[in-house]
Amino acid sequence: MDRLRRNARRINGDPKMNTDTMHGGKQSTLDIRLINAPLGVEIRGLDLSQPIDRDTVAALRDIWHERLILLFRGQSLSDEQQLAFTRQFGPTELGPNNLLKRPHVAGRPPDTPPEIAIISNIQADGKPIGELGDGEAAWHTDSNFVEVPPAASILRGIEVPPSGGDTGFLNMYLALEAMPADLRAAIEGKSAKHDPTFSSGGERRPEYAHLNDVSQGPGPIHPLIRTHAGSGRKALFLGRRAGSYITGLPVAESEALLDRLWEHATQQVFSWHHQWRAGDVVMWDNRCSMHRRDSFDGRYRRLMRRTQLSGDRPV
Ligand code: SIN
Repeated sequence: MDRLRRNARRINGDPKMNTDTMHGGKQSTLDIRLINAPLGVEIRGLDLSQPIDRDTVAALRDIWHERLILLFRGQSLSDEQQLAFTRQFGPTELGPNNLLKRPHVAGRPPDTPPEIAIISNIQADGKPIGELGDGEAAWHTDSNFVEVPPAASILRGIEVPPSGGDTGFLNMYLALEAMPADLRAAIEGKSAKHDPTFSSGGERRPEYAHLNDVSQGPGPIHPLIRTHAGSGRKALFLGRRAGSYITGLPVAESEALLDRLWEHATQQVFSWHHQWRAGDVVMWDNRCSMHRRDSFDGRYRRLMRRTQLSGDRPV
């Protein structure tokens, strides 16, 4: 962000900044619009299907670290171009089914690259082509249930319903910083189990048994407060509520503490909700934000394709 600020010009208090960069071999101006929310920024003036020069990638990374979510509108990308855009920020990560070594939905096009997750309610020959259908997806971090969850997700909106299906985001730095002192003291130095049994849509993955005792569930153990490797800031790291368990506590105590944490962290004051248009690309920082998806009318089609950036072990 410092680099961005050095180059940036604030225009008459308008939450808009310009920064000059090279793009596709040509000098170009990045038009940066702050979203009126505790996270999120819209970037205009970039065609993501084209290679982006190193200075621009560095500027994007800086503002992404500060605002957590980048929104690019009006993009037209193939899977390969989406992967190429993602790789400019680092190595890609596999989608969740590949990470969990479990089968894909029956209608997924077989030529889909393993790094692409399809989020869709569309059926081909009566078989779903992607995950999550048209229902609500609860607040979560993508693939929190592996030892090294992805650093970022990049979601491309290809077909969107006329209403519904909005995606909400939470700033987990702010959730930690604004936490009541007694709650923060109660989680300082503690870790939680991140159980892969339930999808964010609330469905049990059939490979995992339903257990009544969350302390016995599968999944890696991650610290509740993690330090972001890029920004150096501390963020609350909850993953997802279903199956979560704070290690070392009696289950009832863990449940009560988690309920308090979730109630605090999911307050509107930490959030921004994005209404999708076809052609939107949203890149979120999976280490310091959480997201959820509204349900929508299943008579309409919603098709999104997501890539993931490889992450680092939460510490
Ligand atoms: C996701 O949880 O990654 C999908 C969010 C969405 O479909 O908006």
